[in-house]
Amino acid sequence: MITVVGVGPGDAQYLTCEAQVAIAAADLLVGSARHIATFACPQHKTHLLDADLAGLLAWLRRRLDKHHIVVLASGDPLLYGIGKWLAVHFAPQELRIIPGISAIQYLCAQIALDMNDIYLTSSHGRTPDFDWLLQHDKVAMVTDAITGPWAIAQAIMQRGLRRNLIIGENLSLPTERIHRLQPAAVAQRYDINAVVILNER
Ligand SMILES: C[S@@+](CC[C@H](N)C(=O)[O-])C[C@H]1O[C@@H](n2cnc3c(N)ncnc32)[C@H](O)[C@@H]1O
Repeated sequence: MITVVGVGPGDAQYLTCEAQVAIAAADLLVGSARHIATFACPQHKTHLLDADLAGLLAWLRRRLDKHHIVVLASGDPLLYGIGKWLAVHFAPQELRIIPGISAIQYLCAQIALDMNDIYLTSSHGRTPDFDWLLQHDKVAMVTDAITGPWAIAQAIMQRGLRRNLIIGENLSLPTERIHRLQPAAVAQRYDINAVVILNER
C-alpha cells in the first residue's frame, strides 16, 4: 500500500491529524528535499522525489507489498500534484490518498477571498493559454520558474487588460510574503509562489 499524504503548503502545523498518523506509521518516506527535511523522523528510510518518475515507479513497485510507504505531496496531492501520476500507475486498492490544504486554498484564506467560481490552474511544464484564461474574472495558479508572476503580468499588459495580482510567496513559512499588485509593479523574481488574478470591476 502506498499512502499519498498531502502535507499542505509547507509548515507542519497545516498537516491534518490523519496525515500525521500516516507519516508516523510509515517506514519508507518519499518526498522532495524540502519535505523530507521537514517531515522525516529517525525511523524513516527516505527516497528523494525528483524528475526520475520511471525510477520512482520501479522503486515503489519493488517495495509495495513489504513496506508502509508514504509519498509526501505538497498541498493537496490531486491538485496539480503527484497524486494524479500515482493514480494512473497504481490500482485504487494499492493507493490511499490523504487530502491536504493546497497553496491556493491557503492563499485565498489569507486574503479572505471566496473560492466560488475560481478557475484553478497550473503553469508547471506548460504554457498557459492566457487569451482563454484571462476571460475569467477569478483565476488561481500554481506556478513554475518559467511562467510565474512576471510572465502573468506581461501577458495581462500585452492584452491591455486591467487585473490585480495577489502573489503568495513561501506560504505558511516564516518567510511568507503576500503582495497585492497591479501588473506594472510585479517584479521579475519571487520565491515559490501561487498567484491569484482578479478582475475587480
Ligand atoms: C507541483 S505544484 C503542487 C501544488 C499542490 N498540489 C497544491 O495543492 O498546492 C507546486 C506548486 O505549488 C505552489 N506551492 C507549493 N507550496 C507553496 C508555498 N509554500 N508557497 C507558495 N506556493 C506554493 C507553487 O506554485 C509550486 O510551484
